[in-house]
Amino acid sequence: MRAILHQSGSADTLHLGEYPTPEPGSTEILIKVAATALNRADIMQRKGHYPPPAGASPILGLEMAGTVVKVGNEVRKWAIGDRVCGLLAGGGYAEYAVLHEDMALPVPASMEWTVAGAIPETFLTAYQALFTIADLREGEKVLLHAGASGVGTAAIQLAKLAGAEVLVTASGPKHSLCTELGASRAVDYQKEDFAKAVAEYTENQGVNVIVDVIGAPYFRQNIDSLAPDGRMVLLAFMGGYKITDVSLIPVLMKRLSITGSTLRSRSLSYKIKLTQDFQSFAWEAITDGTMAPVIDSVFDWKEAAEAHRRMEANTNAGKIVLRVTE
Ligand SMILES: NC(=O)c1ccc[n+]([C@@H]2O[C@H](COP(=O)([O-])OP(=O)(O)OC[C@H]3O[C@@H](n4cnc5c(N)ncnc54)[C@H](OP(=O)(O)O)[C@@H]3O)[C@@H](O)[C@H]2O)c1
Repeated sequence: MRAILHQSGSADTLHLGEYPTPEPGSTEILIKVAATALNRADIMQRKGHYPPPAGASPILGLEMAGTVVKVGNEVRKWAIGDRVCGLLAGGGYAEYAVLHEDMALPVPASMEWTVAGAIPETFLTAYQALFTIADLREGEKVLLHAGASGVGTAAIQLAKLAGAEVLVTASGPKHSLCTELGASRAVDYQKEDFAKAVAEYTENQGVNVIVDVIGAPYFRQNIDSLAPDGRMVLLAFMGGYKITDVSLIPVLMKRLSITGSTLRSRSLSYKIKLTQDFQSFAWEAITDGTMAPVIDSVFDWKEAAEAHRRMEANTNAGKIVLRVTE
């Protein structure tokens, strides 16, 4: 099959090449990929900083949407011709991908492939952080860092669907996107101290949940911004991962929970349950159009290098999608 291959290094190394077509196992389906989407992890993997987990395809791509073209002999849920999308541990930038049948989500005929291919990774990551881990409840307040990112824009919509109140940090030009999606307060972290803005907005009560992808430079302000019994989920360290001189006293006094997670390395059974919980919670809202991934841009997959450069420059707001063409 054709696939986008790379060497460890810059975006210039991304190129269309040939790779063996994967074979579906007994409980797997083979999908002809119509669209995939970029995630920050692709950039790190391309640079050689984020190797795929054991057994995963070395090809980039953590999500895709397409048509089922072959099914394993124990597959019961899907037939050839069905439209699906799903989360991958790798292998999305390719003509064909395999997926466990319980991790596939049904894509209605009315949904564009470029929309379906942009859903799985960010929506499942956001769902996992907000609900599986942080147990976000109706009426609670949540602070989302990088609110205009792929994960952030999914998280805003999911938190709103659950009846939570959303605050975000993002660079100024991306604020209107966040507030249009439902954020009540967008903080320009380049101009404002977000902890002060949170204190002001919450009348010094703090937020119940924080989903953070920035790490070290935000750690102290995050601790200050959490309400008693607050929960913080760390998903990445885009700003750094070493902290010094942070008082742990508020962790005890406010009974805080601080945890972290990476979705890619989770077990198959965990990802299946996550996919099914997410489907029950959100799929109706996604298929009736109440929620949708924010699409920043769509590139032909042959322009994958250009798409990577756009993400590396932080120019995107929402998802960068690759259309897999002939
Ligand atoms: N742990 C997991 O399971 C998991 C899963 C998926 C994604 N992630 C992580 O979640 C993060 C978001 O991923 P994504 O694909 O949604 O990203 P994305 O769409 O590329 O958005 C990232 C945005 O974060 C902001 N940003 C980047 N570097 C920053 C910095 N040093 N300080 C402050 N803001 C910064 C920029 O927006 P502004 O213009 O607003 O600054 C940038 O556009 C990534 O770090 C990714 O690795 C983790």
